[in-house]
Amino acid sequence: MKRIALLLLILPCHAETPADPATLGPKIVAEASAKLLAELTAAIAKDGPQGAIAVCSEKAPQIAAETGKTHGVTLRRASSKPRNPKNAADPSELESLAGFAAAIEARQAPQPRVIAAAKGGKTFHAPILLASPLCLQCHGNPERDIVPATRAALRKAYPADQATGYTVGQLRGLWSVTFPNR
Ligand code: HEC
Repeated sequence: MKRIALLLLILPCHAETPADPATLGPKIVAEASAKLLAELTAAIAKDGPQGAIAVCSEKAPQIAAETGKTHGVTLRRASSKPRNPKNAADPSELESLAGFAAAIEARQAPQPRVIAAAKGGKTFHAPILLASPLCLQCHGNPERDIVPATRAALRKAYPADQATGYTVGQLRGLWSVTFPNR
């Protein structure tokens, strides 16, 4: 009984604690990345890389929207070399990307950062590394890593694609999580 009463006392306080972007940001990003990677791996196994393109174009924004809604934040992926022009990094994202790239250049682990958001609130930026050879099937060397059918499908869907030519370990972009003012 006592324990239940204590829980009831703690719970409302906990719910009102403002979300800390430095603590919650990594959890939200891990959740969205895991969902996306699971969908991508399953789709490639089933339909090959060209069949999995839809996961990146349709499922990725959907997963970002759903994960964001669950946590009361907005969430997106961005890059300085975007495949989809919608994912082009804004000035603050470019600044974070430059910092992440400098860390990688210096052989250090790039550290996520929290900055003031343009419209109030805070934004959490975390690096996205091209960590797996899986990614090369759509972001690697166009001749060596990307099979012709995938290459053709990518060219058709993304005529302004800048996101090829990567190798494993390179910085591909970032997750941007915006926490509203509370
Ligand atoms: C099946 C092909 C495919 C694979 C495999 C793939 N991607 Fe992509 N990626 C895409 C497509 C297509 C887009 C554009 C999505 C859109 O329209 O928003 C994209 C977009 C992105 C973006 C957003 C920025 C941009 O360029 O538009 C990031 C970041 C990214 N991919 C990282 C990765 C990483 C990391 C991996 C490996 C875990 C990976 N991708 C594997 C096809 C793929």
